[in-house]
Amino acid sequence: MIEIIRNANAARDRLRGLSRQGHSIGFVPTMGALHEGHLSLVGRAGAENEKVVVSIYVNPTQYDDPDDLANYPRPLEQDLEKAETAGAHIAFLPDYEEIYADAYRFRVTENQLSRELEGAHRSGHFDGVLTVVLKLFGIVRPDRAYFGEKDWQQLQLVRDMASAFFLDLEVVSCPTVRESDGLAMSSRNARLAPVERSIAPEFHRVLSSGRPTSEMESALKNAGFKVDYVERRGERVLGAVRLGKVRLIDNVEA
Ligand code: PAF
Repeated sequence: MIEIIRNANAARDRLRGLSRQGHSIGFVPTMGALHEGHLSLVGRAGAENEKVVVSIYVNPTQYDDPDDLANYPRPLEQDLEKAETAGAHIAFLPDYEEIYADAYRFRVTENQLSRELEGAHRSGHFDGVLTVVLKLFGIVRPDRAYFGEKDWQQLQLVRDMASAFFLDLEVVSCPTVRESDGLAMSSRNARLAPVERSIAPEFHRVLSSGRPTSEMESALKNAGFKVDYVERRGERVLGAVRLGKVRLIDNVEA
């Protein structure tokens, strides 16, 4: 049975004990509503570490839209079953009081990349992400932490934060897992209406088309998306679009 820990100090003590016994710890932070993308991170963590910890915590400080936070699915029982089947040993399920005993008095702010792309459209988002990830790292103290490339900007920022604060862990990036029609797996996909779901794969097709970003933007608008951005960054093209009330992000190698 997967071991469930809700208390931060109990989690820290348990994991410190495992580390002292010589077990390597792989960590997959999540907000739950686990899909194949998350489970691939758990599988990779299991292949590279002796113990795998999954955290499930819907972090309010990374939301600027209360509806988005309220609508985030929370199928805890199924999540625990999926995490266990994928090879997780410990589920850390803190609540707000555990994580934000300081009432968010202390936070991590990055002043460059976090202001662009997603950050330009979601105020305070990356302050919330980086703060909760740093807290989770402090509790779990993993040897390796696993993040999906779908959230490319998050991955870069977590990696940069780990380096900036000399954190003694490896941030491991894992490829985006896609549906057979190319749509990147996301907990938000379940909220797409059938007609929106049929349009959604066009997002990945257009991003992968190799056309100039201005043409991609027009193609997406013509297909029925509202476009927040499509931008080329070095080797990648990144985009964020909206279909009805659902916001999707994706990125591909340019
Ligand atoms: O990618 C996510 O699910 C979240 O941003 C994370 C890393 C679990 C922090 O809340």
